[in-house]
This record gives sequence, C-alpha cells and structure tokens, in this order.
Amino acid sequence: MTAHTPTPQALAQAAGVLRAGGLVAFPTETVYGLGADARSASAVEGVFALKGRPAANPLIIHVLGAVEARALVDWTPEAAALARRFWSGALTLVLPKAPDCPVARAACAGLPTLAVRAPAHPVARALLRAFGGPIAAPSANRSGAPSPTTAQHVLDDLGPDAPLTLAAGRSTIGLESTVLDLSQGQPAILRAGAVTAQHIAECLGAEAIPMADTRAGAPRSPGLAHRHYTPRIPVRLRAYEVRPGEALLAFGSTRFMNAGAAAAVANLSEAGDLDEAAANLFAHMRALDRPAHAGIAVMDIPQVGIGVAINDRLARAAE
Ligand code: TXA
Ligand code: MG
Repeated sequence: MTAHTPTPQALAQAAGVLRAGGLVAFPTETVYGLGADARSASAVEGVFALKGRPAANPLIIHVLGAVEARALVDWTPEAAALARRFWSGALTLVLPKAPDCPVARAACAGLPTLAVRAPAHPVARALLRAFGGPIAAPSANRSGAPSPTTAQHVLDDLGPDAPLTLAAGRSTIGLESTVLDLSQGQPAILRAGAVTAQHIAECLGAEAIPMADTRAGAPRSPGLAHRHYTPRIPVRLRAYEVRPGEALLAFGSTRFMNAGAAAAVANLSEAGDLDEAAANLFAHMRALDRPAHAGIAVMDIPQVGIGVAINDRLARAAE
C-alpha cells in the first residue's frame, strides 16, 4: 500500500471504504488515526485485530463538533464550556454514553462511558464530512509501537496490512490528545496532552485532578493499564552524560554533554522549544531505537506546559 494525497477523489474513496465497513488511516493534528465506522461492530473489531489491541481498551470516537457529540454522550455544561474553548482540537472528553447512542459496544469496550474528540486537522474534518458519521479511531500504530506522526510511520508499522492511508505530512502537535474524564464528579486528566491541566482549570474555574493523583487510585482509563510504547533498548531519563554505546535524545543545547561520544544524536529542539520537542518526540524515538545502540540517554525536559505530556510518554517508554 502507498499513501494517498487527500484529493476530493481520495476522500470520497476513503468515505466509501468506511461505509463498506473497512478501515482508513488518516492524519490528525495530534497523531495519525486508524478509523472505522463507530456504529459498525465488525468494522470496529477490524481495528482491534489490525492493531493487536486488547479488547478491553476502548477507542476514541471522532466527530465534527459538539452537535455531533451530543448525539452520542450525555452532554454537560462543563463539556459545553470545554468544547467551546478547545474544539476542534487536542482534547478528548469522557462522558456517559447517551441512552440511544449508536456507537458499537466493542468501540467503548462495553463501558458505560464514551471518549469523544473533534479533531482540528482539515483532512480529518474533510473525511468526517464526506463520511457523515462518527469515526472510531485509535492511533494507527501496532499496539506497543509509538503513535505514528507521519503516513510513512503507519506504512512501516502495518506493512502489507496497512489500509487506505491518507497522507498529509507530519502531525503538528505530535502527541496524542489530552483525555479528560467528566463522567465522575471532579474532572480527571487520564492522559496528558497539549491541552494542559492549567488550560482546563482556567476554562472551568476548577482544578482538574492532575495525572499522578489519578494513577494512584483505581485506573479510570483502561488504556493506562495496557502495554504502551517501550523501545527495544533501555531508555535512561534525565541523563547529563552519554555512556558508552548510547544514543542521545537531546533537548536544547548539548554544550555541557559529551555528545561527541554518542552512537547517534537526535535533538528534540535545539532552541529548547517544548512544542517543537513534542512534534519530534515519536519520530526521534523511532529513529534512535536501533539494536546497535546500547540504549537511549534522554536529556532533562522541563515539567511545564506540554513538557508534562512529553515526560509522561518518556516515563512510559523507560518503564
Ligand atoms: O490524539 C488522539 O487521541 C489520537 C488521534 C487519532 O485522535 N487517538 C488516540 O487513540 O490516541 P488511542 O486509542 O491510541 O488512545 C485512546 C485513549 C486510551 O488510553 C483509552 O484507554 C482512552 O483513550 N479511552 C477511550 N475511551 C475511554 C473511556 N470510555 N474511558 C476512559 N478512557 C478511555
Ligand atoms: Mg494509541
């Protein structure tokens, strides 16, 4: 399979594939998604099978906006305020399923809640419009691989099994959306992303529970309990020196590092820009994850703004 430029014809073809119960990989501003008709049990099962994803890990349902979301979930004033401020964009809202919700049970792993997101990427929106219904889409990687931020990553991961893939360069954000649970009283961030706890608190005028607190209790997001991206070689965080054979994942200036001794160097952002670092993270991890390297030494990333989400993904990679 090769990737398709998202011409009107390719979008119409992709919408036809979705209508027929097939799968389509498509770009979003966060990462590439592997989409299926959310109302079709067999289409959704195809997503789980292709990814090798545990059936207990629910999918995010993609919609054009609040109007479409309200047909799927019990909308709340909090959801309305957040959607007004952050949609379309990198925020996923977990809400109780509406009584007449048409989404297939398999998509939400049988849970009474549903995760909904309105992506901002013009190609994702064009696909949603051409298809005319909700699209269930996890990241388009095999389970355990980093999320794809280019169409080439999708093809590399899925190989001959790759479905029709719409290509539109690199995902600008590069990290998966923030997942916010609004279904149980106080809002809880289940996954850190570009929309930060501070953004959410500013919008709601209330404190969302930060990630760490959620993890300590019963896991509210099934995905957090499952296998996530782990490179084949060891990952060492907050490195201030490169050890023999290691590759260096740098951030900012390497002036005080022995970068010359590294087996390979990839800099997330020479300027020390966290947005640029987020956009580069998964591609650079893929590039450095080579059996020839003894490990990946990662320089310190500040725990502010989207740095929280970057450090969350790095901590999982290092586990
Ligand atoms: O940016 C993104 O969110 C990308 C693009 C394609 O939109 N999608 C994505 O999907 O990252 P995925 O399947 O890789 O991650 C979905 C996360 C998982 O951690 C899953 O457990 C959680 O959302 N999730 C889905 N439904 C949920 C629910 N009802 N309650 C709690 N967590 C849920
Ligand atoms: Mg994923």
